[in-house]
Amino acid sequence: MSTLDTGITLIRSAAGRVSAANNWMGNAFKGWMPTGLYARTMLIMIVPMVVLQWVVAFVFFERHWSNVTQHLSASVVQDIASLIDVYKGYPQDKDRALLRRIAQQRLGLVVDFLPVGDMPAPGPKPFFSLLDQSLSVQLGRQIGKPFWIDTVGRSNQLEIRIQLDDAVIQIFAQRSAAYASDSGIFLVWMFGTSSILLIVAWLFLRNQIKPILRLADAAESFGKGREATGFRPRGAREVRRAAQAFLEMKGRVERSIEQRTAMLAGVSHDLRTILTRFKLELALIGDSPEVDGMRRDVDEMSGMLEDYLAFARGDSGEQAQPTDMAAALEELRGDAERNGHAATVAFNGLPVVTVKPASFKRCLANLISNAARHARSISITGHRDHRYLTVSVEDDGPGIPLSMREEVFKPFLRLDDARNQDEGGTGLGLAIARDIARSHGGDITLGSSATGGLRATVRVPV
Ligand SMILES: Nc1ncnc2c1ncn2[C@@H]1O[C@H](COP(=O)(O)OP(=O)(O)OP(=O)(O)O)[C@@H](O)[C@H]1O
Ligand SMILES: [Mg+2]
Repeated sequence: MSTLDTGITLIRSAAGRVSAANNWMGNAFKGWMPTGLYARTMLIMIVPMVVLQWVVAFVFFERHWSNVTQHLSASVVQDIASLIDVYKGYPQDKDRALLRRIAQQRLGLVVDFLPVGDMPAPGPKPFFSLLDQSLSVQLGRQIGKPFWIDTVGRSNQLEIRIQLDDAVIQIFAQRSAAYASDSGIFLVWMFGTSSILLIVAWLFLRNQIKPILRLADAAESFGKGREATGFRPRGAREVRRAAQAFLEMKGRVERSIEQRTAMLAGVSHDLRTILTRFKLELALIGDSPEVDGMRRDVDEMSGMLEDYLAFARGDSGEQAQPTDMAAALEELRGDAERNGHAATVAFNGLPVVTVKPASFKRCLANLISNAARHARSISITGHRDHRYLTVSVEDDGPGIPLSMREEVFKPFLRLDDARNQDEGGTGLGLAIARDIARSHGGDITLGSSATGGLRATVRVPV
C-alpha cells in the first residue's frame, strides 16, 4: 500500500514538473513566435525541413562523402604503388615506354620521370582539403616515401611527385578519379527541391488562409453595422463550417432585431390609434379643468409614442457610406447656434469616415440637444485615428452624478423631473444615441467636462 502511495506521489511530482517545463517552454516561445497564422504555419513547415536538411547534409558529408573520397584516393595510390613496383622490377624497360603505356592505357595516369632533387617545397594546404588529407594518408601508408602533391594547381587534374632512389616520379591523375567531386550536386538538388517545395507550400497556404481572413473581415464589418457584400463560405471544411455558423448567427441577430422593431412599431401604432380616439372623445366632452388635465396627459402620451416609434425604427435599413465628419459637425454647430447657443467645433484627423450618415447625425444631435437643454455653451470635438472616430460633446451645465451615468441610458429615464418639470423630453435621447453608436460597433460614455458639465463621448471603429 505504501509503495503504491509513494509511486503515485512520484508520478504526480514528475507530471507536475513536465507540465511546468511545458508552460515555461510555451512562455519562452511566445515571445518570439510570429503572431500571424501565415507566418506560424510557414515556421512549422520550415523549421523541421531545415533541421532535416542539416542532419542529412551532416551525415552525408561526415560519412558518405569522406568514405568515398578515401576509397577513391586509396585506389589511385594503389595504382601508383604498382607502377613503382613495375619501375623497380623491370629496369630493362628502356625509356620506361612500357610503363608509360600501361599507366596511360590501363590506369588513366600520365607518368613522367624527373631528376632527383626536383621536389618542390610543400605548398600551403587548401582550407577544405579532404582530398589532400586522404591522399597524404594513403601515400604515407602504401608507399612510405617522401612525396609532394598539388590538388589545386590545375582544376581537373592533380599532380603527385614521389621521391624514388634514382629519380622523382611525376604522376598526373584525373581529379575525379580520386575525389567524390559530384557530391556538391547533391546539395544543390537538396536545397533546390526544398526551395521549390517551400514556394509551392507558400502558394497553397495563401489560398488556405484567404477564407479565414475573409471571414474575419465579414465578422468585423457586421460588428460595425456594415453589410459584408459577396461573402460566402469557402475554403477548407472547418473554415466553411465556421463561416456557415457565422452566417446563421448573423441571420438570427438580424431577425431578432427585425422582430423587436416590428413588435415595438406595432404596439406604438395600436396605442396611437386608441389615443387619437381618446383625443376625439375628449374634444366632444367640452371644457373643464379635469378635461384639460386629461388632454395634457394624452398629448404627453402621444409625444412619448412618437419618440418610441423613432426609437423602435432605429437605423433600420440605412447603409453605411463615406461621410465628411468635419462638415457634419460644422452643420450641427450651425443648428445649435441658430437655436441660440454658443457652440465651438474642432476636428482633427482624416474627416471622411464610413458611417450611417443620418443615424450618426441623429445620435450626435441627441447629445447636442441635451447639452443645449442643460447648459449655455457647447463644445464639439472630433478626432479620428487609424482605428476609431471619437466625438465628444461637452457643456458647462450641471452634469450627471457618477452614480447615474449608466442609469440615464435607460429608455424613459429622466433626471429632469426634479430639476425642471416642463422642459423635459421623453427620456429616450440617450437610449437612442447609444443604440446608434452600438449599431456602428462602438459605444457612448459619459464623464465630466473641464467646465464642470457633462462630457458625452461617442467612439466608433472606422
Ligand atoms: N448634458 C446634460 N447635462 C445634464 N444632464 C443631462 C445631460 N444630458 C442628459 N442629461 C440627463 O439625462 C437624462 C436622460 O437624457 P435623455 O436624452 O435620454 O432624455 P431627455 O433629454 O430627457 O429626453 P429626450 O432626449 O428624449 O428629449 C435627462 O433627463 C437629463 O436629466
Ligand atoms: Mg435628450
